[in-house]
Amino acid sequence: MWDLPTRVFHWALVACIIGAYVTVKLGGLWMDWHTRFGLAVLALIIFRLIWGVVGPRYARFSQFVRGPRTVLAYLRGRLSPVAGHNPLGAFSVIALLLIIGTQAGSGLFANDDVMTSGPLAYLDNAWSSRLTWLHNINEWIIIAVVALHVCAILWYRIVLKKNLVRAMVLGDMQIDATSDWPADGIKHAQDNWGVRLAALLLFAAICAAVWWLTTLAPTGDYSFM
Ligand code: HEM
Ligand code: HEM
Repeated sequence: MWDLPTRVFHWALVACIIGAYVTVKLGGLWMDWHTRFGLAVLALIIFRLIWGVVGPRYARFSQFVRGPRTVLAYLRGRLSPVAGHNPLGAFSVIALLLIIGTQAGSGLFANDDVMTSGPLAYLDNAWSSRLTWLHNINEWIIIAVVALHVCAILWYRIVLKKNLVRAMVLGDMQIDATSDWPADGIKHAQDNWGVRLAALLLFAAICAAVWWLTTLAPTGDYSFM
C-alpha cells in the first residue's frame, strides 16, 4: 500500500517534529538543533508535496484527495471503503502537511530577539515579528491536529479493529475475509528500487535547496555555534 519513500517520510517527519519540540523547550544552545530539525521538516514537507504529484499510486494526491461532499458521503457510510487513504484520512493528511509546512516556512523568518533566527529573518523586521507570532501560536494547532491524528489511528485500532500502523511501517495491508475491501481490483503501490532511487535523488536536491536557503543569512550561517 505505502511505498518505502512515503513510509520513510512519515517516520522521519515524526522524529524531526519531536526533535524540534524537545530542543526548543530545552532552549539555549539547543536552539541550533531546533533550527536543524525544523529545516529537516521543511525538506520533508517539500518532498511529500512533490511526491504527491510525481510519486507512485497511493502517494498521489489525485488518488486520494476528495471534495467535502465525498468526505460527507463517506462519513454517512454511503461510500464503500477505498484502498489508500480514505476520504476523511485524506483530509487530515492535507491538514497535517499544510499546518506543519506553515510551521517550517514561518520558522525561516522567526527570531527570538536573542541569538536564534531563521535564515530569512533579516529580510524584514515587521514580517519577522508577524511570522514569529504565527510560529508560536501554530505550536498549539500542530499539537491539536497531531493528537486528533493519533486518536483516529487508535479509534481504527480499538473500535474498528484495523491496524493502520502496520501498513505505515511494513507497507503491506492485509486483505482477507474480515477486511471490507473487495479482494480483487486492488493494485499494488508501484514500489521498486527505481522509484526509491528517484525519491532519494529528489530528496537530495531538496536538501541542497534548503541548505542554500540557510546560506542567505547575513552571517552566511544560520547557526551561532
Ligand atoms: C516544523 C518544524 C518546527 C516546529 C514544530 C517548531 C516549533 C517551535 C515552537 C513550538 C516554538 C516556540 C517555543 C516556545 O516559545 O516555547 C518555536 C520557536 C522558534 N523556532 Fe521553531 N519550529 C519548527 C521549525 C523552525 C525552523 C525551520 C526554524 C528556523 C530555521 C525555527 C526557528 C525558531 C525560532 C527562531 C524560534 C524562537 C521564536 C521566539 O522565541 O519567539 N523553527 N519553534
Ligand atoms: C508528529 C506526529 C505525526 C505526524 C506529523 C504525522 C503525520 C502524518 C502524515 C502527514 C500522514 C500521511 C502520510 C502520507 O500519505 O504521506 C500520516 C499517516 C499516518 N500516520 Fe502519522 N503522523 C504522526 C504521528 C503518528 C503516530 C505516532 C502514528 C502511530 C501511532 C502514526 C500513524 C500513521 C498511520 C497509520 C498513517 C496512515 C493512515 C492511513 O492509513 O490513511 N502517525 N501521518
